[in-house]
Amino acid sequence: MASSIVSIVNISQWVGQAVKIQGWVTRHRSSGKVQFLMMRDGSGELQAIVSKSTVGEEVFEQAAHLTQESSLVVTGIPRADSRAPGGYELDVTELHVIQIAQDYPIQPKDHGTGFLMDHRHLWLRSRRQTAILKIRHEIIKRCRAFFDERGFTLVDTPIFTPNACEGTTTLFQTQYFEEIAYLAQSGQLYGEAAAMALGKIYCFGPTFRAEKSKTRRHLMEFWMVEPEVAFAELADVMGLAEEFLVVIVQGVLETRRTELAILERDVSNLEAIVAPFPRLSYEDAVAMLRAKGATIEPGGDFGSEDETVLSQAFDRPVIVHRYPAAIKAFYMQPDPLNANLALCMDILAPEGYGEIIGGGQRIHDYDLLLTKLREHGLSEEAFQWYLELRKYGSVPHAGFGMGIERAVAWICGVDHVRETIPFPRMLYRLYP
Ligand code: 4AD
Ligand code: MG
Repeated sequence: MASSIVSIVNISQWVGQAVKIQGWVTRHRSSGKVQFLMMRDGSGELQAIVSKSTVGEEVFEQAAHLTQESSLVVTGIPRADSRAPGGYELDVTELHVIQIAQDYPIQPKDHGTGFLMDHRHLWLRSRRQTAILKIRHEIIKRCRAFFDERGFTLVDTPIFTPNACEGTTTLFQTQYFEEIAYLAQSGQLYGEAAAMALGKIYCFGPTFRAEKSKTRRHLMEFWMVEPEVAFAELADVMGLAEEFLVVIVQGVLETRRTELAILERDVSNLEAIVAPFPRLSYEDAVAMLRAKGATIEPGGDFGSEDETVLSQAFDRPVIVHRYPAAIKAFYMQPDPLNANLALCMDILAPEGYGEIIGGGQRIHDYDLLLTKLREHGLSEEAFQWYLELRKYGSVPHAGFGMGIERAVAWICGVDHVRETIPFPRMLYRLYP
């Protein structure tokens, strides 16, 4: 009878029945007449037992040459074994070697990060990296589900754009036939147009920033999910973002315990992520930082260290709102109580992770937006379409953006964003 091809993750359903496993060798040891093959297939790991008496001399000899990362298909019968990692073992009846890997460069020892990053295409195969990728996938799926279930329409925004969204100093410029184009820093401006068409939208795509920052939080290319809501104000999107983060974290806890355990994530820190989140005005945040000895001047932007300190002060994300307009983007709605402040917010993840969400309320008045564009020295021509949104049924609206890699770093408890995206683009790293 032909045996079914089975994923290791489902092995418990196949105990006692002949199955085929397709995968790679992670470890191999031998004790005379028995060989122990640790196999991975992308879904999990399983120990396969090859004994000479079952498979015969020839196959046993072939198996003896299997090295780390060699590829193979084995047929066998799974059996429960409480001592086995994962709780099951496979008694091999047939074994087919596909390719013998030679000198796999990543050995089960400590390599430096530079070496691992140079071999990122192979490093992805490790238990730790596959666990992170699975959690990343889970987070992305749950981001989409969150907005889909609440009546948002997904709108894809362009990557080639004629104008800046988040300041002109971090633009990647490229030739677009006879014109200059910039890679999108954010889909927000287009999201605003779409919100006037559909009411509630989100965009979700890659974004690009030529940031000369070599920190554990910065990538040149990262993914951002950005909801935008017509008729919403600052308080509405603070509440939306709060609910969003709670639902995402709870979702990962629901389905990704195994991966969190591989990463040795302290899940009690994630279980503490419940509403309400503390809300802190920028002014209070500065006072708090200064009381803790930080040198930030009132009106100044938070440095990386300031964010770390603020985010260590709470056991859940903290919402910092109403920053000085002078240090924020041109499109932010001024606070009616103090025009020097912007109706904006950042959400800082706990445990020192810092900003994961930025957003707020957008200017909906034509004349005010024009004034701000001019103050920021931006081209009125390039923003003509964006200004026009304020001419036809303009309404208050608000939204936010969450950087996926920063959220993944926080939820996984990994300390650098370079491990949270398959192939990170960083300052001085474009390879592989
Ligand atoms: O705070 P930012 O710049 O806000 C915006 O882009 C708004 N247009 C979003 C909106 O309101 N629709 O970026 C939003 C988030 C940050 O909080 C951070 O999580 C992430 O994007 N981010 C980065 N992640 C990795 N590397 C970088 N260089 C990042 N820059 C921003
Ligand atoms: Mg920001």
